[in-house]
Amino acid sequence: MTENDFLPSSYQNSPEKGKVTWKAPSNIALVKYWGKRPVQIPANPSISFTLDSCATTTSVSFERKEKKDNFSFDLFFEGKSKDDFKPKIQTFLERIEKYLPFLKEYHFIIQTSNSFPHSSGIASSASGMAALSLCFMDIEKQLFPSMEENVFHAKASYLARLGSGSACRSIKGSLVQWGNHANIPDSSDLYGVEYPFGVNPVFKSYCDTILLVHKGQKQVSSTVGHQLMHGHPYAQNRFQQAFDNLDKLKPILASGDLEEFIKLVESEALTLHAMMMTSMPYFMLMKPDTLQIINKIWAYREATKTPVCFTLDAGANVHLLYPEDAKEKVLEFIKDTLAEHCENGQYIHDKVGEGAIKINT
Ligand code: DP6
Repeated sequence: MTENDFLPSSYQNSPEKGKVTWKAPSNIALVKYWGKRPVQIPANPSISFTLDSCATTTSVSFERKEKKDNFSFDLFFEGKSKDDFKPKIQTFLERIEKYLPFLKEYHFIIQTSNSFPHSSGIASSASGMAALSLCFMDIEKQLFPSMEENVFHAKASYLARLGSGSACRSIKGSLVQWGNHANIPDSSDLYGVEYPFGVNPVFKSYCDTILLVHKGQKQVSSTVGHQLMHGHPYAQNRFQQAFDNLDKLKPILASGDLEEFIKLVESEALTLHAMMMTSMPYFMLMKPDTLQIINKIWAYREATKTPVCFTLDAGANVHLLYPEDAKEKVLEFIKDTLAEHCENGQYIHDKVGEGAIKINT
């Protein structure tokens, strides 16, 4: 599908008002997206596990209005009016208006909440933008009921990408790939697709425990980090590495070769942070406790041969990845050895999920 497929034809219906609700999960990348060009086009392809319980639930109530010259919306986060989120939503609406021309015809009340604690340091932009995009697509579907299912999902992902790149991987499927890749059929820079190749059952129930090392605001936002890949001395090699890693991942995912999976996933995480440390200006998001955890994971893996590994997002928190059958042992390891490195001893258990769901309201 191309951009033109997401430009709407004339609508069949025009409801006066209504309400829609969607719950969209967060995701954790195995091959990382880091570097982009306008508008929200990734410098390299990426792939992520969709999470299950870390999610954003968003309701959008809509009512037709008289004047159609401006966007009009109220925003509530966890029940409270949230004016400081409004500029981000305003920018998002401006970006997606071309694809959803009804946006100025309604007044919207957007109510959103996260399943994870507000200040956990977990990025909520992926799940948040995915949930909001799905709500708008649901409204568009009411205006244009003959829209096909695959267009609905691809366009929701397309819109989510315009809000936050990684959000396009939070719509549908347990393993989602985003970004053109010659060897992945139907892959696109414009939206995420369900991974089209065989995936060993071990990855369908993979666990992710998020160790909350640092819950405060990050020193450098992802948006700034992406920009620093422009003119970065290692950028081209890094982008090529991501393309190659997607090729390497194919037999690993098919066979369930956890040894190779661990090597690739940990290398991706450390490369992401190496890019931050070698940009100009350089910065570091890992904390001493992040490193302590990594060292303890390596020592534990060596000693027990348990296939547990880590990945990182653009922050200090550590995602501990392990197969479901190792859960009991790993939970003990977390409690006894890793929890002391978490802020207030906090961590969140999650696992691979299936994607966003509509909530009937
Ligand atoms: C490190 O999707 O947050 O988590 O497109 O600027 O909103 P924007 O960036 P964002 O970047 C996520 C980067 C990452 C890696 C990944 O999820 O692939």
